[in-house]
Amino acid sequence: MVIIVTGCPATGKTIIARKIAEKKKLRYIDVNQLIKDNKLYSYYSRKDMSYVVDVKKLNRFLIKLIKKDKDVVLDSHLSHYLPNKYVDECIVTKCSLKELKKRLEKRKYPNKKIRDNLDCEIFDVCHIEALENKHKVRIIDTSDKKTF
Ligand SMILES: Nc1ncnc2c1ncn2[C@@H]1O[C@H](COP(=O)(O)OP(=O)(O)OP(=O)(O)O)[C@@H](O)[C@H]1O
Ligand SMILES: [Mg+2]
Repeated sequence: MVIIVTGCPATGKTIIARKIAEKKKLRYIDVNQLIKDNKLYSYYSRKDMSYVVDVKKLNRFLIKLIKKDKDVVLDSHLSHYLPNKYVDECIVTKCSLKELKKRLEKRKYPNKKIRDNLDCEIFDVCHIEALENKHKVRIIDTSDKKTF
């Protein structure tokens, strides 16, 4: 079974992906680490303070991985770019803006990056893109620790 966990920064992807992997006995895959280890990015953007990922390269890499190891949970805000035929379920993590702002401030991100990341959630970017890609989407709201 292949489960992907997408969502805007700090909405709880890693926490949820690890939990699901444990519960369903699937292998947890830290896609960010894979991107770094295998140089699946095009360049580092100082303006955005992050790597700009080559999504084609990333997809090729992940498809190969899925074909080999069929029971995985992929943790990445880029995972929903995978063609839906490779994916059984797409989880989108969401979080209230108030809680998200707190989490981003705790990370000591500069204001611009906080703003950009809040905008991502406001415009529901990952969710909308996942639906556009026709994934079977399930939303998990992590605003309140008690509810998940
Ligand atoms: N329900 C919660 N209540 C309070 N804090 C939470 C909750 N869920 C997650 N957090 C905190 O929010 C932060 C973000 O969670 P997590 O690292 O899982 O998000 P992420 O989506 O994987 O972020 P990134 O996009 O940077 O990888 C973590 O510091 C975590 O401790
Ligand atoms: Mg994470």
